[in-house]
Amino acid sequence: MPQTSRSDLDKETIAKAYGRWAPVYDLVFGAIFEHGRHAAIAAAERIGGRILEVGIGTGLSLPYYSPDVRLTGVDISEPMLRKAQQRVAELGLNNVDALAVMDAEHLDFPDTSFDVIVAQYVITTVPNPEATLDEFARVLRPGGEIVLVSRVGAEAGLRRALERWFAPAARKLGWRTEFSFKRYASWAKTTHNVQLVERRTMPPFGHFSLIRFAKAGGTALTRQTAARAAG
Ligand SMILES: C[S@@+](CC[C@H](N)C(=O)[O-])C[C@H]1O[C@@H](n2cnc3c(N)ncnc32)[C@H](O)[C@@H]1O
Repeated sequence: MPQTSRSDLDKETIAKAYGRWAPVYDLVFGAIFEHGRHAAIAAAERIGGRILEVGIGTGLSLPYYSPDVRLTGVDISEPMLRKAQQRVAELGLNNVDALAVMDAEHLDFPDTSFDVIVAQYVITTVPNPEATLDEFARVLRPGGEIVLVSRVGAEAGLRRALERWFAPAARKLGWRTEFSFKRYASWAKTTHNVQLVERRTMPPFGHFSLIRFAKAGGTALTRQTAARAAG
């Protein structure tokens, strides 16, 4: 069920925060999140086709996609997206169809437009994560997948206490520290046609996870099945 009422984050604060991050983002978050980005891309490419990357940021992931997939990227921060546009131009990435400023919760695409939705390090930065996931499911075709790499908050212990303590500062920087896996799991449980298919711990420190959801219906046409079908 969409949770669009009150939120602990607001879009203007987040957009401003990432406007400030844009000049140094690659330096600070480039290498540290690389493993997760590669894992998400590998998962997305098992489906292939039309891939929407939400919260694409400076486009660090773009050069690693296969030239065979068609990519669309959106982000709420114009300064972050400008960096992604520069990257596309500099590297001559011909598989990028469009990059647009857009809110993840209100995607300007018709239903079932994409084969895969990827969101790396994004869900804990949006004001209404469940409503945003609903929107991902809407624009995803039956048989397609949502591939997230996301921070997962600790359920108990010292890490949970530290995350709670750091939460107000983290919001100003543009994300939530505390965000339990239960929220992802219960979104899938209560969402028609969507099923949780994988959770895999990711570095750094195992505080992140690759999370995959499949949308029922249609044919899950993976690259392997497509190749077999092509003979
Ligand atoms: C931590 S960065 C991740 C960037 C990139 N995915 C990566 O792997 O480095 C989060 C990104 O999500 C974007 N973002 C935050 N809220 C958003 C929203 N409501 N709609 C679209 N993008 C959003 C931010 O502007 C930022 O570029």
